[in-house]
Amino acid sequence: MIEIVGVSKTFNGKIKAVDDLNLVVPAGEIFGFLGPNGAGKTTTIKMITGILNFDSGRITINGIDVKKNPLEAKKQFGFVPDSPDLFLRLKGIEYLNFMADIYEVSVGERKRKIANLAERFEMTEVLSDQIQSYSHGMRQKIIIMGALLHNPAVWILDEPMTGLDPRSSYILKEMMREHAQAGKTVFFSTHVLEVAERICDRVAIINKGKILLSGTLEEIREHFKQNESLEKIFLELTENE
Ligand SMILES: Nc1ncnc2c1ncn2[C@@H]1O[C@H](COP(=O)(O)OP(=O)(O)OP(=O)(O)O)[C@@H](O)[C@H]1O
Ligand SMILES: [Mg+2]
Repeated sequence: MIEIVGVSKTFNGKIKAVDDLNLVVPAGEIFGFLGPNGAGKTTTIKMITGILNFDSGRITINGIDVKKNPLEAKKQFGFVPDSPDLFLRLKGIEYLNFMADIYEVSVGERKRKIANLAERFEMTEVLSDQIQSYSHGMRQKIIIMGALLHNPAVWILDEPMTGLDPRSSYILKEMMREHAQAGKTVFFSTHVLEVAERICDRVAIINKGKILLSGTLEEIREHFKQNESLEKIFLELTENE
């Protein structure tokens, strides 16, 4: 579970990227974080994961305060950032072993996990190649694999579908569903509303740093006209702002 209470973030003393944000992401569900470009999604995710500091408010992950107990908080989650261009000089397998070392995954467990994830993502053949030789989608997949090795309680993904082909995107959605079904938390941002509509149990729509609406898809539909698509609701909401 992720809890965000009254969190604000201002850049350069004037741009209010996130404005008094309150959000609860429960365990056992897939939570979609939606909003137009520049809405504050990545900023929020960077504050949850401890990459960015925030001006006020409180964030806890499974009850652990990210500011007071940053290391313990970081052990709770696996993170897939919006750009996968990391550790390019490492071979895929070196990167995965590096991640497994950081999260103290035993040798037997990592071998089993890596073999399984590589097979599902069709990455087995390229694990001994350098990441810089990978395509965008392959880089995305190696980062996703690295984020899952320690079987995190909370999985945080920023625009994870970008660059994935239909098969990989399908497998990722399947993995997200399995993770939630195992009682864990899945929190991801996306622009792809059809995906959100299909796989999310709950969504929040953010614009200009403020949450406009959050709830289960049924609650949201009840609030609006029945049978209205998420796309239409999204467009209406973000246009009026
Ligand atoms: N390091 C920074 N310095 C100054 N302004 C920033 C910085 N990072 C983000 N911003 C500003 O904060 C606002 C929110 O940006 P953010 O990256 O969180 O949006 P986003 O919802 O992730 O958008 P996108 O859908 O395009 O990824 C934008 O106005 C952006 O210009
Ligand atoms: Mg972003």
